Amino acid sequence: MARCFVTRELPGPALDRLRERHDVEVWPERLPPPYEKLRRQTADADGLLSLLTDRIDAALIEGSPRLKAIANYAVGYDNIDLAAAAARDIPVGNTPDVLTDATADLTFALLLAAARKLPDALLATQTDDWLTWEPAAHLGHDVYGATLGIIGMGRIGRAVARRAEGFAMTVLHTGAAGGVPLLELLKRSDFVSIHCPLTPDTHHLIDGAALAMMRPSAILINTARGPIVDQAALLDALRDGAIAGAALDVTDPEPPPAGDPVLSAPHLILVPHIGSATRTARERMATLAVENLLAALDGAPMPHPVHTAG
Ligand code: DGY
Repeated sequence: MARCFVTRELPGPALDRLRERHDVEVWPERLPPPYEKLRRQTADADGLLSLLTDRIDAALIEGSPRLKAIANYAVGYDNIDLAAAAARDIPVGNTPDVLTDATADLTFALLLAAARKLPDALLATQTDDWLTWEPAAHLGHDVYGATLGIIGMGRIGRAVARRAEGFAMTVLHTGAAGGVPLLELLKRSDFVSIHCPLTPDTHHLIDGAALAMMRPSAILINTARGPIVDQAALLDALRDGAIAGAALDVTDPEPPPAGDPVLSAPHLILVPHIGSATRTARERMATLAVENLLAALDGAPMPHPVHTAG
């Protein structure tokens, strides 16, 4: 029986499967274990089931001599030092596919909400601002027939493109097959949606210069990772009218501290990283993470491994 540390309660029955086979400790709080506590809890663990909010760095991995498996409860794994894990031959797993449609759905929800200024319209119904039917009130942007630029044509990017077909959108993307250069995408798109992983190459990929390439009527949507966008530059662009709006499911940092200007920026819709937040997706993510851990602790390959950088 191995000792497993799970950094938060997970929805669905998957953790029971882990408990049937191993000695499992689950961090019981709503907030993640602080880094030093995480290190202490992992120091004698054989298996770690981590969340995207947990920093699994080289020091933590080096300080966990028994560690044999890291299963991340996310498709993204930028929170894990893959090279440090590879140096110890520790397999790392993620949860691909099962959250693709949920995240693509949320992307479209954000796109539509930003295009049609739904937060302002909802606010009008809750305040004294709904006087009558007004020809020039709450004017938004057309979605049907517009051009959508998708940065990162992986599973989620492709799922977003499939939804765009229903809106007769022209889809530009940066993918290998049939893609266009980022600059062209930024210049031509009415909506720009980010779906690439966060890596050193994509950190601040959308910076002030990139935002300046976008149309003043364009809307940026980010459901990937906050640091792909230079948030200060985005706030400037929104304030200056360099772009028309943005909708973010992810921020940098996450969550923003109280008083952070991103919380009150104009023309910005902000939601708290809920891309995969459907019951089905989150329960399936738990199943995949547990399957990864069980396999690796049995000495078998993880069914959903990430590519290590070792
Ligand atoms: C992921 O899986 O990487 C998402 O950001 C959260 O589900």
